[in-house]
Amino acid sequence: KELVFSGVQPTGNLHLGNYLGAIRKFVALQEGNDCIYCVVDLHSLTAQLVHDDLPGQIRSIAAAFIASGIDPEKHIVFNQSAVPQHAELAWIFNCVARIGWMNRMTQFKDKAGKDRENASLGLLAYPSLMAADILVYRGTHVPVGDDQKQHLELARDIAMKFNLDYQDHIRRAGRGIDITVGDEPVHAYFPMVEPLIEGPAPRVMSLRDGTKKMSKSDPSDLSRINLLDDEEAISKKIRKAKTDPDGLPSEVEGLKGRPEADNLVGIYAALADKTKIEVLAEFGGQQFSVFKPALVDLAVQVLSPITGEMRRLMDDTSHIDAILRHGGERARARAEATMKDVRDIIGFLY
Ligand code: TYM
Repeated sequence: KELVFSGVQPTGNLHLGNYLGAIRKFVALQEGNDCIYCVVDLHSLTAQLVHDDLPGQIRSIAAAFIASGIDPEKHIVFNQSAVPQHAELAWIFNCVARIGWMNRMTQFKDKAGKDRENASLGLLAYPSLMAADILVYRGTHVPVGDDQKQHLELARDIAMKFNLDYQDHIRRAGRGIDITVGDEPVHAYFPMVEPLIEGPAPRVMSLRDGTKKMSKSDPSDLSRINLLDDEEAISKKIRKAKTDPDGLPSEVEGLKGRPEADNLVGIYAALADKTKIEVLAEFGGQQFSVFKPALVDLAVQVLSPITGEMRRLMDDTSHIDAILRHGGERARARAEATMKDVRDIIGFLY
């Protein structure tokens, strides 16, 4: 059994990129794996300190998980701040990671913008908390969109430096396993994290500009499909989506240099659980005037049951809160087992 971990921030409305790049994969991975899915509320303070309705935002992400088909009894659904061990391990990882590693993160550079001196220290340390989220459960497999790839490489670097620096301590505490890294034997405590990014829509692009990522922060609501959009909004946004004048190619190579067409075909494929090749076998040679209505029908068919269930769940806050509480208790027990080992390895008295 693999340990799957992933997280979603409770900021803004969830959109189709979050669903296809992440949540849909969370659902599929439940079969045969042990999964932990987290609403990362501590992370949501890095960009914006004060939130109007953080409890509501946290509940809406949990509702999206459940409405999409995650089973909170077989697997664990909880919010990050309910398990203080995440922050405890993050502190240790802050001391493992180097400032240079953090400064190289493209998401930090984008989010901090020109005025880097004024970015929060939390925004810089963000990837270290993310590594702690996964490794406090000794997680091995992490389903995410393409934009998280660099953060997961950093999580591997942090795990490896901890393993190497504490090799002798890990041996003394009797807690590790022998692995080889390159040709070097290493006595490791933390496993190497494996990102799960593949699929037809690892990076869903804006409906207004095929070179920009679909994002919560785009000022144009026409650029994204929100998980809470109704049928009419979905239909309008897809009809208005930018395209080029040509019809659809019959081969995937024909999508090169056509980012908007590529994006819509990828979205269709991901929603239909098909490959782009299969989608083009069906629609190759057709105009967008034929493809777009088919995409609207498919998107509505897949998304509207989720939207309906999400709304229903969000109305019953006590039910969602009970799920989160139950998940938090189970997560805490597991995270504490890891932290006991880590405190022993480091040499803290407790
Ligand atoms: P967040 O909340 O920004 O996004 C949640 C998930 O959605 C994916 N995603 C996309 N996928 C495809 N196309 C897009 N346009 C798109 N936009 C977002 C993201 O890749 C992500 O998988 N740092 C993370 C949260 C996090 C986490 C973790 C993830 C915290 N700790 C530990 C995995 C493991 C984030 O901000 O995701």
